[in-house]
Amino acid sequence: MAAWAGRGVRAWEEKWSAIPAEVAGSVERLIQAEPGSVSLHPNVTVAQAVALSCLEFAPGRDRVVCTAEDFPSELYLYEGLARRGATIVRVPAREGRRIEEADLVAAIDERTALVAVSQVLFRTSQILDLGPVLAKARAMGAISMVDAYQAVGIVDVDVRALAPDFLTGGSIKWLCGGPGTGYLYVSPRVHGNLHPALTGWFAHEQPFAFDSGPQRLHMGERRFWNGTPCIPAYCAAKPGFAIAAEIGGEALREKSLRLTGRLLALADEHGLAVGSPREEAKRGGTVCLDVPHAEQVCARLLASDVLLDFRPGVGIRLAPHHYTRDDEVDEVMERVRKAVDAER
Ligand SMILES: Cc1ncc(COP(=O)(O)O)c(C=O)c1O
Repeated sequence: MAAWAGRGVRAWEEKWSAIPAEVAGSVERLIQAEPGSVSLHPNVTVAQAVALSCLEFAPGRDRVVCTAEDFPSELYLYEGLARRGATIVRVPAREGRRIEEADLVAAIDERTALVAVSQVLFRTSQILDLGPVLAKARAMGAISMVDAYQAVGIVDVDVRALAPDFLTGGSIKWLCGGPGTGYLYVSPRVHGNLHPALTGWFAHEQPFAFDSGPQRLHMGERRFWNGTPCIPAYCAAKPGFAIAAEIGGEALREKSLRLTGRLLALADEHGLAVGSPREEAKRGGTVCLDVPHAEQVCARLLASDVLLDFRPGVGIRLAPHHYTRDDEVDEVMERVRKAVDAER
């Protein structure tokens, strides 16, 4: 902000125009993506809306396969696609809100235009094994879009291995970037063939030519941009994204597993019911404790500066980050035990 205050409009050339590429570069390093394949947006909802605006839903190829446990904001977006001719297929959850990958695979066929799924479910922190799901999508000729918001930063996401067409994520959860930054990865396999309808002057080959159209889309990273980028939000996101990229996906995953493992062991010791997956392959970064009076327990803990949250249906959610120490996990679990006792 000092650049804007002190340098005025010159801030664009001197500093600001480089910021989106710096932040997107951290994401690209974290997810093993090609340079120029990630664009920034104000949030994941807009990032997905840009991706969806590239697609058509023609009779016979009109189905959007998602799950009942995807993030509500995205489910609302997919609902809206019905007005563009899409038929929405929501794969239901099984007991305990678990999504079975086999159910997703079975829902995909030659009528599927898009498979849009979360890699880690926001509510239960279940990791989905998306390999077979995306393989089926590819085999059926469908586009895939992965919401990796809850994954990047605690799961070692590698787009070279997973091979989604689109992947989205954001700044508020594991990447510690504050509100205002979402990102969209577009695979180079499809990048140049896509023409987003949700576009704008910064996606033009030469924005400062102020060409009145037709739109000539940039061939590189700006293809999926639209209006003026939200530089202040990206400045806020920059350090958190850079730190995560420097640590790297493998080390982030290793520490997350160690801390969530410690949380689970202490939950067992204190007799607290666990609602999120325990197996390492299915365990995201959040541990859900299905304690009695969870909402009140959560409020009590928040009042004593333990940062956590509560979701109806799964209880309190504890999410150790890469900066969390082992002794902090122990301390938090002691406080959880006391708060649960106090609310009984
Ligand atoms: C899986 C998932 N997707 C999306 C979002 C948020 O979307 P947006 O950036 O549009 O607010 C969240 C927020 O918690 C999330 O957990």
